[in-house]
Amino acid sequence: MSATVRLQKYLAQCGIASRRKAEEMIAEGLISVDGKVVTEMGVSITPGMNQVSFAGKHLETKEKLVYYLLNKPKGYVTTLSDPQGRPIVTSLIKERGARLFPVGRLDLDTEGALILTNDGQLAQRIQHPSNETNKTYEALIKGLPSKEKITLLENGIKLEDKITSPATITVLASKSQNCLVKITIHEGRKRQIKKMFGLIGHPVLNLKRIAYGKLVLGNLPIGCYRQLKPADLKKIFL
Ligand code: URA
Repeated sequence: MSATVRLQKYLAQCGIASRRKAEEMIAEGLISVDGKVVTEMGVSITPGMNQVSFAGKHLETKEKLVYYLLNKPKGYVTTLSDPQGRPIVTSLIKERGARLFPVGRLDLDTEGALILTNDGQLAQRIQHPSNETNKTYEALIKGLPSKEKITLLENGIKLEDKITSPATITVLASKSQNCLVKITIHEGRKRQIKKMFGLIGHPVLNLKRIAYGKLVLGNLPIGCYRQLKPADLKKIFL
């Protein structure tokens, strides 16, 4: 998911022309998106993901790149708008100016670590399957799974016709009715953790993402965020 912008607005943001002049340039066939000339109005692009060129030269916005780690509360959606009017995660970031979008998604009832940025390239790098970026979760699950079931999940289980990639699971604490587990995966399929535990008969009762790679949420309070520095960004890929 990413923030899209009208092509003419993007051209204006890049400082090559006013929005009106940019429309003329589009109509004249001077602008291409991902190598294809665009002449119609109304095309939207995603900065950092689509490559916009003018006269063969790649364009970039002058917007400063910003990175935040948010402790997402439950009840917030990770989309940029919500037809049902539920609160959206970007509304929690008080600094305005940057067109922020969340990297990946967390379910409405999942809390924890969520990176928000305006850097489409970093977002793509984190989410691209070939980079195998680890995401670690703490899940409170119903019952106490056997070692065999844990091993099944760790090795890969058939989920919607495709075996899940290897996972690492540690049981952190167990009570009579439920237990707390730590699980690290590098895929990002929809509702993956809940589905994986559901498949072995131990539904997830509460889910919290605690890290991207070695970038940990730590004791950041729910609903709060911190700005990430280059050293933090490196930890995502460790
Ligand atoms: N897996 C899930 O099931 N839900 C999330 O929000 C994230 C990972």
